Amino acid sequence: MPIVAFRIDPWSNESIKEYGKLFTYFGIKPFKEVLPKLEEIAEPHPLMRRGIVFGHRDFDLVIDALKKGKRVAILTGLMPSGRMHLGHKMVIDQLVYYQRLGIDIIVAVADIEAYAVRKKSRKEVVEIAMKEYIPNYIALGLDPEKTRIYFQSNNEVPYYRLIQIFSRKVTLAELKAIYGEDLETSKIVSALTQAADILHPQLPEFGGYELVLVPVGADQDPHLRLTRDIADRYGAELGLTRPASTYHRFMSGLQGGKMSSSNPESYIALTDPPEEAARKLMKALTGGRITAEEQRRLGGEPEKCPVYEMNAYHLIQDDKELAEVYEACRSGRLLCGKCKRETAERLKNFLREHQERLKQALEEVPKIVSPPPF
Ligand code: TRP
Ligand code: SF4
Repeated sequence: MPIVAFRIDPWSNESIKEYGKLFTYFGIKPFKEVLPKLEEIAEPHPLMRRGIVFGHRDFDLVIDALKKGKRVAILTGLMPSGRMHLGHKMVIDQLVYYQRLGIDIIVAVADIEAYAVRKKSRKEVVEIAMKEYIPNYIALGLDPEKTRIYFQSNNEVPYYRLIQIFSRKVTLAELKAIYGEDLETSKIVSALTQAADILHPQLPEFGGYELVLVPVGADQDPHLRLTRDIADRYGAELGLTRPASTYHRFMSGLQGGKMSSSNPESYIALTDPPEEAARKLMKALTGGRITAEEQRRLGGEPEKCPVYEMNAYHLIQDDKELAEVYEACRSGRLLCGKCKRETAERLKNFLREHQERLKQALEEVPKIVSPPPF
């Protein structure tokens, strides 16, 4: 059997169907195993309680570090391409949660990756980041005073030195094993740049954090595997330690299949007019049966329902309320028309409030980006 029988491509927008394989092939651990330990210091976020954040590497070290009062930073990245939608919101919700626990937040804008790998123009990338992504991050609750967002193209010098230094001990063979045979120079540079994103907060110039936690979608794990190996190799020389990471599931598209930036009917954008968003939701696929009679008799299947997902991932904070929707659906008491109308109301309320905050947030952008992009 080939060593890599299952490969994740962090550059494709394919969704991962079999999360279980991430445990068996790559040694990601189930997040639910660390929940009791997390509960000793804080109430887990709903995304964690509900199994949406499903996996981790070394998250127990983060809890230990927080208990001992060590300095922990969170580093995550955003890809400034297309419009921001609910699928992007999950990482930000986690950042807000961690920020309230007192952890410092750093966000890398992957403008170099967007330019070199995704072939976007520089101008478009900077504009999307400044006018779409970063304001949405603030409107979702990230504190501009306590967050640093930087562009990969414009960080301080020791960050670039890391990328160059890493090039000595990373072989082409291992890059091919992780990313596949169709490597390109742009992908190699982006991979080393992402390793520098994740590891640079440990350098004294950037705060000298003792541990870095990286919350990401499961597709980004190849970069984390590479980065962990790099940390091992440069541990003695540069004083770097392995990052910890957590992984969340992706949302399904409204029509089933994957949620994709290239198909606006598959997602709800954070800037969709509320009525437009409600219209998309009313058309969504459900886990309902073909006829109302059948649904009353057999019950619906919330596990397969994008509308249920929308509630579980974003719109219902209270676990009891969510459990009621689940039970009502399973028992056949709740039919999809009513369920969709109720979900659409929640969605419209969320979007109205969010978009109100967004107006204000646009003015806060300069406070949070440092240094400014060029
Ligand atoms: N590659 C990530 C993406 O496609 C963006 C990214 C850049 C990132 N640097 C990072 C993610 C560091 C996590 C950590 O979305
Ligand atoms: Fe989905 Fe709601 Fe229909 Fe159940 S009742 S299948 S949760 S839309």
